[in-house]
Amino acid sequence: MAAALGASGYDATDRAEEADMILLNTCHIREKAAEKVYSELGRLKALKLDNPDLRIGVAGCVAQAEGNEIMRRQPAVDLVVGPQAYHRLPEMARRAAAGDRVIDTEFPAEDKFDHLPRGPKMRRAPAAFLTVQEGCDKFCAFCVVPYTRGAEVSRPASRILAEARDLVERGVVEITLLGQNVNAYHGAGPDGDWSLARLIRELARVDGLERIRFTTSHPGDMADDLIEAIGSEARLMPYLHLPVQSGSDRILAAMNRKHTAESYIRLIERIRAARPDLMLSGDFIVGFPGETEADFADTMALVDEVVYGQAYSFKYSPRPGTPAAGKDPVPDVDKSDRLARLQALLGVQQRAAQDAMVGRVVQVLFERAGRREGQLVGKSEYLHAVHAICDVSSIGRILPVRITESAPNSLAGVLV
Ligand code: 5AD
Ligand code: SF4
Repeated sequence: MAAALGASGYDATDRAEEADMILLNTCHIREKAAEKVYSELGRLKALKLDNPDLRIGVAGCVAQAEGNEIMRRQPAVDLVVGPQAYHRLPEMARRAAAGDRVIDTEFPAEDKFDHLPRGPKMRRAPAAFLTVQEGCDKFCAFCVVPYTRGAEVSRPASRILAEARDLVERGVVEITLLGQNVNAYHGAGPDGDWSLARLIRELARVDGLERIRFTTSHPGDMADDLIEAIGSEARLMPYLHLPVQSGSDRILAAMNRKHTAESYIRLIERIRAARPDLMLSGDFIVGFPGETEADFADTMALVDEVVYGQAYSFKYSPRPGTPAAGKDPVPDVDKSDRLARLQALLGVQQRAAQDAMVGRVVQVLFERAGRREGQLVGKSEYLHAVHAICDVSSIGRILPVRITESAPNSLAGVLV
């Protein structure tokens, strides 16, 4: 979005009071995230009193799902743009500047990525995201993604490779391949469709691209060749985000997850056999409609057995238009109680994984200056934030660090 607007004469500013255009990028995955948008808009509209030229826009999945409602609820909004229409922002911005209220939440036939400008050859931060896939065909019963982001689409492999090379030329050494259902990737290659594993193998040959990650994966799409790549590609980092959502087979079936607790656990065993140092991360939902205390106990048991290095957990939030919305709700007190118990358990595991790093040497990609004088911050292979005293010229380099200390949310160490 910044590149699209930049190409049509806008400059970025950090100060809202200076802006002629404010775009909120929004998330619709849970109700809390969506509601934030309206309170933020209420705050921003006051800026229009001092700057009548200010235009306010809403982008992202709330725009996609509730575009007309946003226009109705908040008259100060001039522009609503869904995630598939970002390449049309310059034209929309022109119309908004002329006084129109514009909304575009179409899924156009053309590919936005082909029309988004790459921008001038500016240096980039050492770690970047690269979208390889969008949308999802899985239709988990709780999830809005298949509706807001549409059907699963993979970008052509040649484009991804070209963009990766371009990022490396701009100073990027680590790329995280992004997709709502990334391991279902099957983009066109020169010799037929490429799997995610094939794409990773080719990316691993790009000179200067030292680290590759991918997120988010579905257990049903962990193909054999991907597990093999996890085991053999040194540039693929030993960290995998593989959401399970619940440990109860009854709830997993109601969620339309298409896997069981047992099949997930066996899958993790296979992946760990391929890459013993793998750190696992996951997502969990508590209080899905119909979840009993016994179902929740199954989730706790699964966490006990699998052991996560990092995890995200949420109370179930009914989303409009999804199959589970409105069914058999679990009382909020029970949701809160289960979430607290689950987060306590996950917290202990996360702490243990982090503390286990003390005394070890990890490879840190330094990304920026730390809070303390002379200190840099970077990420280990396992995505832990690591602080070390280090010359600023090391930003963008991967260096060995012996971990000496495990703080609440980060590690500290000394260069080896
Ligand atoms: N309620 C709560 N959590 C949800 N997620 C997706 N939809 C919902 C919902 N309706 C969580 C899932 C998913 C993560 C991105 O957000 O755990 O993996
Ligand atoms: Fe949503 Fe992920 Fe399920 Fe797709 S696989 S419907 S994105 S939770």
